[in-house]
Amino acid sequence: MGYSPDKLIISNSADELFKEAAACIAQYANECVQTRGVFSIALAGGGTPKRLYQQLTSSPLIEQIPWASCHFYFGDERMVPHDHDDSNYAMAHKSLFERAPIPAGNIHPIPTDCDTAQECANRYAQEIGNLPGLDLVLLGIGQDGHTASLFPGTDILHEDTRPVSAVYVEKFRSWRISMTYPLINRAKQAIVLISGSDKSDIVHQVLNTDNPDVSFPIQGIRPLGRLSWFVDKDAYAG
Ligand code: 6PG
Repeated sequence: MGYSPDKLIISNSADELFKEAAACIAQYANECVQTRGVFSIALAGGGTPKRLYQQLTSSPLIEQIPWASCHFYFGDERMVPHDHDDSNYAMAHKSLFERAPIPAGNIHPIPTDCDTAQECANRYAQEIGNLPGLDLVLLGIGQDGHTASLFPGTDILHEDTRPVSAVYVEKFRSWRISMTYPLINRAKQAIVLISGSDKSDIVHQVLNTDNPDVSFPIQGIRPLGRLSWFVDKDAYAG
């Protein structure tokens, strides 16, 4: 048996996937705020989470989430302006931040206006400071098994100290800034959200590969607490 999450939730449809994941996050946010007064989450980028963020900011959940006590970080960012089409911040702003009553001070974008991506990474690491482990890290998965901007064959996979680092992604010929395994794996929980038949091959490989010589960056995700995969049927068809 390959790499396995603590919890694997398979939804019958994408609609059900986003509803179930949103309800789980809303409940966890309330638990965290009730016990510690705050909920900190690192958002995922790319396209999949958009519908999740829209679920969180639609009724009934928008009325149930303690927004003023929630702090939003980013698992990774592309080295583009925050109003660029490729920006994860721009996607989250449109599908989440402008749809819910979140105090501006609770939103912690990864800066992308430094001279170099590494300077931005260092600045973000300073901002995160000695944040105790995030309550939740939300992640996606690429068809090559990357997550956040932890891409196969990149040096960032071997970063064992810095919480945030820059990474040059050859196939996109672009720089990104990403949380690293040390920071992600200090999280209390991690949720991987996977939707669509284009992910079925990588899902099948990751969950079923027993070959020790074959590994994917997603398999390095081991939070202190629970690791949950929310997968719709199309992505799990494997
Ligand atoms: C990013 C994400 C990245 C994403 C996967 C899946 O900045 O792109 O952090 O890790 O989760 O590439 O992307 P899709 O959801 O668009 O398939």
